Amino acid sequence: MVSDFKNKYGEWALITGASSGIGKALAIEIAQKGLNLVLVGRRQVELEELAREIQNKYKVSTKVLLADLSCQTGINAVISGTQQIDIGLLVLSAGIENNGAFVKNNLEKELQVIELNIVSCLKLTHHFIKQMERQKKGGVLFVSSLTAHIPSPYFSNYAATKSYIFSLATSLYGELKSKNVDISVLSPGVTDTPMSENIGIDWSKTPVMTMSAEDVAKEAIQNFGKKLLIIPGKRNRILAFIAKKFLSYTTLALSNQKMMQKAINPVKL
Ligand SMILES: NC(=O)c1ccc[n+]([C@@H]2O[C@H](COP(=O)([O-])OP(=O)(O)OC[C@H]3O[C@@H](n4cnc5c(N)ncnc54)[C@H](OP(=O)(O)O)[C@@H]3O)[C@@H](O)[C@H]2O)c1
Repeated sequence: MVSDFKNKYGEWALITGASSGIGKALAIEIAQKGLNLVLVGRRQVELEELAREIQNKYKVSTKVLLADLSCQTGINAVISGTQQIDIGLLVLSAGIENNGAFVKNNLEKELQVIELNIVSCLKLTHHFIKQMERQKKGGVLFVSSLTAHIPSPYFSNYAATKSYIFSLATSLYGELKSKNVDISVLSPGVTDTPMSENIGIDWSKTPVMTMSAEDVAKEAIQNFGKKLLIIPGKRNRILAFIAKKFLSYTTLALSNQKMMQKAINPVKL
């Protein structure tokens, strides 16, 4: 039986950041729906291992594309590598973080965060959405973060990139709803992946509760195309709700600064 997902989004999905964490978990969820996958990232061994696992378990086809998405060469590699493939579902999970006092952070590193978290998503969306719009069929899952909704001192530039993604997604939803192209934006809280480990933050000193990448991905795919904003985890949804309804930006910015100051490695302040 052809799954609803396949009816709606066709044969192929493309997932960036598929070698690890949330992107990898999303790839597995989508393979379970019977879609073939283009897996994008820089790490060949991890991507090929995932491709083999997915092919054996879910009997779908896979294609690995090695690309550094923070530069135009990598974007070109994705575009040329998918010329013969009709991508009906685009999942943009590749991302990096950078934390620490903004004034001390390396500007080059902050610009790299913008290149990957913003520019690559803009370029890939602009490319793949054209065909979806023409065919009146398709979907894009953007990966933002709770930091897009709540001021996040010491993650200032990273949080700003995630706000861009949230804003792009919500506006595109308006443009593309009538064209039958589904847009959802996933805003996870802290998730147990390499991105949140060993980054100089002691999460145990915050009230943050982490989720597994698998649980985040499950909620994302269950709600994709049904909800515009997907915040995985009840606790994260309550947090976002309270922040939006009851607290001012100044209160949130100042209280989060106090909280993170205790959790961040002091050399970064
Ligand atoms: N973990 C969290 O707490 C959390 C919370 C909210 C939102 N998010 C968002 O979730 C997304 C996935 O993060 P994650 O937690 O799953 O982190 P992760 O496990 O570190 O995965 C990051 C992925 O991005 C890819 N990537 C990094 N630099 C790249 C580049 N230059 N070109 C191409 N691919 C690149 C990596 O693949 P290669 O190394 O193979 O290139 C990897 O697959 C990110 O957008 C992140 O902002 C994460």
